[in-house]
Amino acid sequence: MNARSPILDPQSSLPPVIAIDGPSASGKGAVAARVAAALGFHYLDSGAIYRVAALVIERANFDPAHAKQQDLADLVARMPLSFSGERVMLGDEDVSDAIRTEDCGRQASVIAVLPAVRQALLERQRAFRQTPGLVADGRDMASVVFPDACLKVFLTASAEVRANRRHKQLMDKGIHASIAQLLQDIRRRDERDGSRAVAPLQKAAGAYELDTSSLSIDHAVAWVLERYEKQKRS
Ligand code: CDP
Repeated sequence: MNARSPILDPQSSLPPVIAIDGPSASGKGAVAARVAAALGFHYLDSGAIYRVAALVIERANFDPAHAKQQDLADLVARMPLSFSGERVMLGDEDVSDAIRTEDCGRQASVIAVLPAVRQALLERQRAFRQTPGLVADGRDMASVVFPDACLKVFLTASAEVRANRRHKQLMDKGIHASIAQLLQDIRRRDERDGSRAVAPLQKAAGAYELDTSSLSIDHAVAWVLERYEKQKRS
């Protein structure tokens, strides 16, 4: 765990944000959702937005490698995305399961390298910042979307641990997958997310790093809540 001075803006009248970033299957989604529930805060799963964007682009038959970036950006700026509890809706269609496939995750990371697409999704993400506060998880919550977050956490875990976690998640859903294949996918996604020119996956300045390789979700949640309470007092 590495603690650098967090960025706090006591003058800010905006609701507080806790930003939780990290690589694929680092546990950030589960941790962020539970921290939000414990505090009574709103929760933003920004990865779900990128996944829905990938789905919309695929359904419109665009090939992200050759399409004009602005066309893709216009398309995702207009997509009728909403969250209904834990369900993710595209207009009247519940796309919660469709966006959770490994293929959709891979496609999301492909379109996520495009600056115009990221720009088109920026305000949509910022609109989740509402009272009494927000817990947001993703790759660039602390660095780009909410640079003034009062607490920034970077969750990590070894690629092997993450592949095993993803395997268990899929098995729980009755989906078979090979751990070796998942490990390869995770490494590729780390490489693509970490090396892109815009908003690459990286620990933001002022973020606390928490390695969850041998930490349960409960411990990680307790750690974030404790940090947040300390931050409020300081
Ligand atoms: O669940 P997992 O961590 O594998 O992925 P996710 O959080 O659902 O995000 C899917 C993909 O969207 C990631 O691999 C990133 O490429 C992209 N993404 C991003 O670029 N920026 C974010 N704030 C969130 C996701």
